[in-house]
Amino acid sequence: MASLIGILGYPLTHSISPVFQQAALDHLGLDARYLAWETEPSKLGERVDSLRVDGVLGANVTIPHKEAVLQLLDEIDPTAQAIGSVNTIVNEGGRLKGHNTDAPGFLRGLREHGAFDPKGKKALVMGAGGSGRGVVFALAQAGIETVTLVNRTLSRAEGLAREVKARFPDVAIEAHQQAPHPLEYDLLVNCTSIGMKHTPMEGDTPVELKGIRAGALVCDLVYNPQETALLKLAKEAGARALGGLPMLIFQGAIAFDLWFERKAPVEVMFEAARKALR
Ligand SMILES: NC(=O)c1ccc[n+]([C@@H]2O[C@H](COP(=O)([O-])OP(=O)(O)OC[C@H]3O[C@@H](n4cnc5c(N)ncnc54)[C@H](OP(=O)(O)O)[C@@H]3O)[C@@H](O)[C@H]2O)c1
Repeated sequence: MASLIGILGYPLTHSISPVFQQAALDHLGLDARYLAWETEPSKLGERVDSLRVDGVLGANVTIPHKEAVLQLLDEIDPTAQAIGSVNTIVNEGGRLKGHNTDAPGFLRGLREHGAFDPKGKKALVMGAGGSGRGVVFALAQAGIETVTLVNRTLSRAEGLAREVKARFPDVAIEAHQQAPHPLEYDLLVNCTSIGMKHTPMEGDTPVELKGIRAGALVCDLVYNPQETALLKLAKEAGARALGGLPMLIFQGAIAFDLWFERKAPVEVMFEAARKALR
């Protein structure tokens, strides 16, 4: 019988994880299926318990379950615990272990597709939701020098800044409600949902890019559309632009490595994802 993996989220209409994960499984000839397990919040406990059986390797977890799922698992990897968010579950003989592959996936995207090393750099991070938390912890772990964290709800940014400061005392981090100008940063990351397709915010940008440093890297976690209004602005302003697709593929590839203990075929995954987003 085929092994099963899937994604837990609600709704799952726009998730392309089933497409690129199944492409990877088929490419390697693995007898496994990756399914969309749409799960209402009230059914999360039941669904998570159903992962403990033989033949289920684990799951990915997406909005809105990444935080709530922590208390339903048997063990949490320390990075996922610190971030407070799990996006990957591995079934270890009936015991469920939670991981966060968003943070290393983001860093791998920055390095391999943005040619950017955070060590000693200055970053502006917009958004202090689930992905903002992962990005800020990832940058801190990678030796970023300063982080200016901006969020519409200031208290959320202040809370995250305090947590980061306590864990990484060498990182200078401050919280604001709006991006302070001039934009003297090496890296700008959009971790808000502004710019997402199929929402009223499609076509909007989270910040004006006037005064941005030439050659600075602007990274948008939004991957649909692949070129957001923010990334267009960045290119017009002489900055470099990196979309959210590398992070999406790499978080999936790292999860794949955990389930199968072998390297995921990332190029196959990129190709399938690009086709799905066309
Ligand atoms: N590429 C990838 O692999 C990847 C991975 C994860 C997420 N993402 C993308 O990242 C984005 C955020 O995801 P998430 O999981 O962090 O979501 P989330 O936890 O719901 O957080 C949403 C964030 O966006 C802010 N926001 C929402 N609407 C806003 C508005 N109108 N004006 C200003 N700020 C607004 C929120 O601010 P408040 O705190 O004030 O509400 C919060 O900071 C989504 O587009 C998601 O698709 C991509």
